[in-house]
Amino acid sequence: MDAFSKILKERYLVTAALPYANGRLHVGHIAGAYLPPDQFVRFLRLAGREAHFICGSDENGAPITFSAMKEGVGPQDIIDRYHAINEKAFADLGIAFSIYGRTHCPRHEEISREFFVRLHEQGHIQKKTSSQVFCTECGMFLPDRYIEGTCYYEDCGRTGARGDQCEACGRTIDATKLIDPECMICRMQKRASRGHIEVRETEHWYFRLETFQDDLRKFVDAHPEWRETVKRFSYGLLDQGLRERAITRDLPWGVPVPLDGAEGKVLYVWFDAPIGYITFTRQYFESLGEPEKWKEFWQNSGTGLVHFIGKDNTVFHAVIFPGMLMAHGDYRLPDAVVSNEFLNLEGDKISTSRDYAVWVDEYLKYFSPDVLRYYLTAIAPEASDSDFVWKDFQVRNNGELADNLGNFIQRTLGFVAKYFDSRVPEAEVTTDTGKAMLEEIKTARREIGELLAGCRFKAALERLMRFSRSGNQFFAEETPWQSRKTDMNACAATLLVGMRIVEALSVFMYPFLPFSAAKLREMLNLPALIDGDWHTAAKLAPGHELGKAEVLFPKIEDEAIAPHLA
Ligand code: MF3
Ligand code: ZN
Repeated sequence: MDAFSKILKERYLVTAALPYANGRLHVGHIAGAYLPPDQFVRFLRLAGREAHFICGSDENGAPITFSAMKEGVGPQDIIDRYHAINEKAFADLGIAFSIYGRTHCPRHEEISREFFVRLHEQGHIQKKTSSQVFCTECGMFLPDRYIEGTCYYEDCGRTGARGDQCEACGRTIDATKLIDPECMICRMQKRASRGHIEVRETEHWYFRLETFQDDLRKFVDAHPEWRETVKRFSYGLLDQGLRERAITRDLPWGVPVPLDGAEGKVLYVWFDAPIGYITFTRQYFESLGEPEKWKEFWQNSGTGLVHFIGKDNTVFHAVIFPGMLMAHGDYRLPDAVVSNEFLNLEGDKISTSRDYAVWVDEYLKYFSPDVLRYYLTAIAPEASDSDFVWKDFQVRNNGELADNLGNFIQRTLGFVAKYFDSRVPEAEVTTDTGKAMLEEIKTARREIGELLAGCRFKAALERLMRFSRSGNQFFAEETPWQSRKTDMNACAATLLVGMRIVEALSVFMYPFLPFSAAKLREMLNLPALIDGDWHTAAKLAPGHELGKAEVLFPKIEDEAIAPHLA
């Protein structure tokens, strides 16, 4: 029994929302849906758990179609380009998926078709004629995201509501009801965008989500441990009453609807995309030569299944996709949906269309991945929106990473190099302060671990930094630079404890700062971390020879930050 047996299962499948392959990734995406699960998976493995991390490109439907129209190229060009760019950006940031799949592939079409057909056969899908928004200028039905107008909910009434959702109040929108609607495609192509939008009839297939109203409420009720934001949002939807949802579209790009009489129609991208998690899990285990193993995560609820998402994806993951899984019948439900609120930039909303963002690939031309990982976790929008501020980014790097964490490691390793010939000192720790510090290593291990296991990444990072600060304090109070001259045993004991802290840091840092943790392991002349190392007893034996120390966290100078300030 290890310390986390009560909180953690033995095996996990962790998913991160599939980013649309129609644009680059920015810091808001990373803070929202990608860094948290990467930290979780890294921690799970260190804690000796089996963990698989599933993601990939969302390549179907309206977003891709219209990006292609906008750029005047084919959809395939768009997805090939952004799939490659995004896959690389993730890898460069150390966000290490087990598989990064693609939804525009025959295998995914087949699995999505099977899903749809099953729901259809079991009576969960029904065909209806409905009214949809049609642009006479474009000559086509407009997908919800390509209509903008004023939110019709009385207590909101804000402009800029999209045809699927009002970002201001968070509620789902019926596009035909938007006030003063505007065609985004016309706007994109610089035509008059208001005044030629009609509501026309078309046939579509609907998933009868309302059938699962009671079961979905029970599902949410069964998870008091979820983040408040997710629970509040889910109960809000359930209280409004669930309704059927259209799951097909009039579009030229996507998974064709597998029914007679559905020519020219494709599955709604939000129907097929979450099924992508299943497709990629299957492809991943097939590539490992274990084609049946996906079932252990999607059908057997003894394992952990956790979805990480940004807040605008909550309705799909906490309610609709679980409803689809219930309707299909062969699947288990997720254990958790971990969502984050929004990240702003210098007090303003990040906006792809206005090119107002910190793009990951741009960022990496100037600064290191770990510093971004650190900053985005330190300001993580776990409970409420937060703000990326370049000045704060610099201040935290310099004051926290450099002056606290980096400083402790450097002064300890520097001292040992200089006065102990780069070898871990031989000594017995006899003082109360020294023993208390060794005890603090154990406490930090337990507390950081519990916070990570509970997906409280920001608090876990704060606890890590408190641990490092206590190391600095210990060093300052023990004054080894004095005891070196008066009491060599005391000095050696101080540095032995110091080295134990540094070794512990190299483990605790890893989920947050994987590149720096790896470098530190080299500096310590210790093997790279392996699964289960969270609990491994200290490996730095007295006499162990250390590697060459280098600066882990250089300061960021004013000149380096200046070009990024508004
Ligand atoms: N592509 C969607 C977005 O960026 C997320 C899809 S998540 C999935 O908002 F579950 F559908 F895969
Ligand atoms: Zn139009």
